[in-house]
Amino acid sequence: MKVLITGKGGQLAWELEDNLPIQYQLISLGIEDLDITDSVAVNKIIAMHQPDVVINAAAYTAVDNAETDHVLAYAVNETGAKNLALACKINNCRMLHVSTDFVFDGSKTTPYQTGDVAKPLSVYGASKLAGDIAVQEILPDSVIVRSAWIYSVNANNFVKTMLRLMAEKSQLGVVYDQVGTPTWAAGLAQWLWAVVAKPQVNGMFHWTDAGVASWYDFAVAIQELAIEKGMLVRAIPIRPIPSSAYPTPAKRPAFSVIDKTSAEAAADMLTIHWRTQLSKMLDKLKTSQ
Ligand SMILES: NC(=O)c1ccc[n+]([C@@H]2O[C@H](COP(=O)([O-])OP(=O)(O)OC[C@H]3O[C@@H](n4cnc5c(N)ncnc54)[C@H](OP(=O)(O)O)[C@@H]3O)[C@@H](O)[C@H]2O)c1
Repeated sequence: MKVLITGKGGQLAWELEDNLPIQYQLISLGIEDLDITDSVAVNKIIAMHQPDVVINAAAYTAVDNAETDHVLAYAVNETGAKNLALACKINNCRMLHVSTDFVFDGSKTTPYQTGDVAKPLSVYGASKLAGDIAVQEILPDSVIVRSAWIYSVNANNFVKTMLRLMAEKSQLGVVYDQVGTPTWAAGLAQWLWAVVAKPQVNGMFHWTDAGVASWYDFAVAIQELAIEKGMLVRAIPIRPIPSSAYPTPAKRPAFSVIDKTSAEAAADMLTIHWRTQLSKMLDKLKTSQ
């Protein structure tokens, strides 16, 4: 089976490559090989490679910048997804598309179900929702998976920023009133590969690691594990602060825990607690340094 991945160089695309099952032939394309906003290029590349499956891991993910850069955010997250879906339809390939918990407004206090009404608070969330709707309309048999709080060994993310700040600063304040689930991109990549192997699976799914945390809890765990592993030499005080003390251009959901039950059943794979996954990622990061 031939699988084409967009967004090479991004966190998820990198983990998809790193976790590639040996039986698949991979074509992994970065923005320099394929800009998904360019419909002519998308049609040409999909027609040329004739993949069996396309995984769209490309996205505009700069959540705060999107508030003022909405033309590009929509071009990538809506038009780009639509271009891929149309090309997949013409060339008869299956599409797996990745989306976000930021399509929800965070007003619930129990995990978001795949059928819950999406009400994004940010331009990024709205542009991703527009992409989900376009993909669903064009390819009702596609797979859309919404994830959250993704980090990986590759590229910039919360874990790597925290490790840097914890080494540089004498104390840190981290937001405690936004709750969700940290997700190692490797786990999401493994879920996607499990679904590639199950052609009968389609529809909307949610996938993160297991459990619940605030950004503050996540930061505390990063520091504890990094000290245990010899990646930090000393602990600094970490204070829980409210979101109001750390204003950002984009509003983020206060509660973005999503229900993974149907994704676990579809892929025959259980989620793993976020702290266990964080520990594995830090081991990998340490080896890579
Ligand atoms: N990161 C998170 O916390 C998070 C949470 C929930 C869901 N998600 C979703 O998960 C998926 C993967 O996210 P990620 O964290 O791996 O994102 P990422 O690290 O930002 O990677 C996205 C990749 O897409 C590329 N890209 C941007 N515009 C493109 C275009 N026009 N054509 C082709 N490629 C383009 C980026 O290239 P450049 O770097 O050159 O721009 C980057 O390599 C996305 O759908 C995202 O919305 C992410």
